[in-house]
Amino acid sequence: AIVLSSAAFAQGYPERQITMVVPFAAGGPTDTVARLVGEKMSTDLGRQIIIENVGGAGGTLGAARVAQADPDGYTLLLHHIGMATSASLYRSLPYDTLEAFEYVGLVTEVPMVMVARRDFEPADFPAFIAYVKENAGTVSMANAGIGAASHLCGMLFQSAIETQFVTVPYRGTGPAMTDLLGGQVDFMCDQTTNTSQQIRGGTVKAYAVTTPERLELFPDLPTVAEEGLPQMEVSIWHGIYAPKGTPEEVTERLSSALQVALADPGVARSMADLGTAPSPAEDATPAALKNQLETEIARWQPVIESAGVYAD
Ligand code: MLT
Repeated sequence: AIVLSSAAFAQGYPERQITMVVPFAAGGPTDTVARLVGEKMSTDLGRQIIIENVGGAGGTLGAARVAQADPDGYTLLLHHIGMATSASLYRSLPYDTLEAFEYVGLVTEVPMVMVARRDFEPADFPAFIAYVKENAGTVSMANAGIGAASHLCGMLFQSAIETQFVTVPYRGTGPAMTDLLGGQVDFMCDQTTNTSQQIRGGTVKAYAVTTPERLELFPDLPTVAEEGLPQMEVSIWHGIYAPKGTPEEVTERLSSALQVALADPGVARSMADLGTAPSPAEDATPAALKNQLETEIARWQPVIESAGVYAD
């Protein structure tokens, strides 16, 4: 029998369409990033990238799906900071975060904004904090489950203001936004990739951004640090992964397609419009993503431990 070396295998790659799993609902922030970048990667690879939304359990269901997939380069995962936080938030995961994946590269880093339903009473962030503290028994915050970015921001907010309130989990902040617009839930902390259009349109109320600097897109919105809550600073980095054992030639080929996509002026424009920017080429590499994941697991583990929130 002829045994093909992985290099020979990779030469013909990709020979068919690729599935990119998004571990949250369609129409939300992760989905938006995946579709934007996936389309341009498809062009470079000469094969279609199909997005499959596998939402639930704060992104861990979709990650588990990819961890168990064949390591042939035809199933990928686009996930965010939740890949790192869920490693500490879950007492047991169906995969070992640092052992189950190969790395393609970093994609983008997205700011978050605290937003509320349009008719929510508080006029600004200090009033919002006071209101939430006074009405902790009745206000509700949407999130995309334990391990989601919206969950992390909510957790940081709860510990910063030392107040517990009701949280409502969704399969993604896409559907959560629908309920926020409908007034079924009061507020959420969500990425600009899902909130910027609503903020611009005035269909939600925006209070503060979680970045160290104000956003060019919304210069009137204060930062959480300006408002006295620097502990809430967080940016949502995204990366593309492949199942463990995927040949290096394949992840390198995907990394080069990712770099082409991120260098596309149209992608940069669309991202700017969503309050974010493409990661630089040197970060769109397997080594940079591996380093980021390891660093971030170590960074968030003590924060999560001191907040004392866990899922089974
Ligand atoms: C999504 O795509 O729904 C999100 O990234 C949710 C989140 O992590 O808050």
